[in-house]
Amino acid sequence: MIIDSIKLFNFRNHATYTLQCTHNTSLILGENGSGKTSVLEAIYILTQGKSFRATDPDIIKRGTDYYRAEIIYSSGESSVVTYDGTVKTFTSMNKKTRRLPSKSKYPVVLFQPSDLNLIDHAPSRRRTYFDRIFSQFDDSYATALSKYDKAIRQRNELLKSDTLSPESVFSWNIILSKYGTDLYDMRHRFIQEINSCLTPTYRSIADNHDEVNLLYQTNITSTDSNKYLHTLETNFDKDHYLGHTSFGIHRDDYVFSFNHTHADGSASRGESRSVILALKFIEADLIHVKSGKRPLILLDDVFSELDPTRRKCLVKNFQDNQVIITSVEDVVDINK
Ligand SMILES: Nc1ncnc2c1ncn2[C@@H]1O[C@H](COP(=O)(O)OP(=O)(O)OP(=O)(O)O)[C@@H](O)[C@H]1O
Ligand SMILES: [Mg+2]
Repeated sequence: MIIDSIKLFNFRNHATYTLQCTHNTSLILGENGSGKTSVLEAIYILTQGKSFRATDPDIIKRGTDYYRAEIIYSSGESSVVTYDGTVKTFTSMNKKTRRLPSKSKYPVVLFQPSDLNLIDHAPSRRRTYFDRIFSQFDDSYATALSKYDKAIRQRNELLKSDTLSPESVFSWNIILSKYGTDLYDMRHRFIQEINSCLTPTYRSIADNHDEVNLLYQTNITSTDSNKYLHTLETNFDKDHYLGHTSFGIHRDDYVFSFNHTHADGSASRGESRSVILALKFIEADLIHVKSGKRPLILLDDVFSELDPTRRKCLVKNFQDNQVIITSVEDVVDINK
């Protein structure tokens, strides 16, 4: 799907705003605080169902009581989201729904400046980062994750309550072991797929012969959900004492290695940037391979963070995708 235009109404600082897009690369140029990221946020809501940075009440323009955003596709179809402070409604193909229907979703690769520091972020940020990618690789990943997260919250609530017993957490243990094992299996597989192209992609950007790998750090050792369940049960006293669930995929982490040495703290700025760029290229490629769709690329202010060589790589790699770029300064080399 190709976006022709985006219209915003009472969305963040925009009272009314329209962006006409070209079918290849569109540039949103504006000063800090002018509302560039907000335009990408609206596109993200209309293609993914929710914002990448906030909840809906934060998005309604201050002093007003609802927001509306609309995407018009080159096919003539359109997709609208409204939020009135209580109810969020998506309208596409004349149907109104509370959630964005999967047939109205479209894959997106979002690239923000903070992604460039992924290697140094806390594990929870890295988990969120990869969860977002893997959810676009496979719908069942997103479904399993939402069920797992709900079960973890419920189990942790019970672990802090006065009425705790091994029986009271049993049903949550079952859910955690089922979806935890599924998620472990998918994470394991997706990381293998990423690794199969990470080194060559990295080398093409960094122009060196380093070997780069993404390592999956987990305390799960098996795809047998009974083993997962058994560990949760064995940990009951420990978890009661701690007040949270100590075992499971919610503790996973992802680590990069350069030439078989862990990169955290030791990777140079250039190495970190090249590996994140490589990851974005692979993300877009794998989405294309798995879904047959070329993802929309949203580049939020990343050009100013990259040197000319990496900028060129970025433009060249995404030349077959629709790309929307935000920048404070005119990006002269996007069409070179
Ligand atoms: N609910 C809201 N109502 C009105 N204004 C808002 C609301 N939420 C955020 N803003 C303001 O909207 C402006 C646009 O924010 P946005 O992050 O989109 O800007 P930006 O152009 O991406 O800025 P930067 O270049 O610094 O990244 C900011 O000044 C912010 O304070
Ligand atoms: Mg911004």
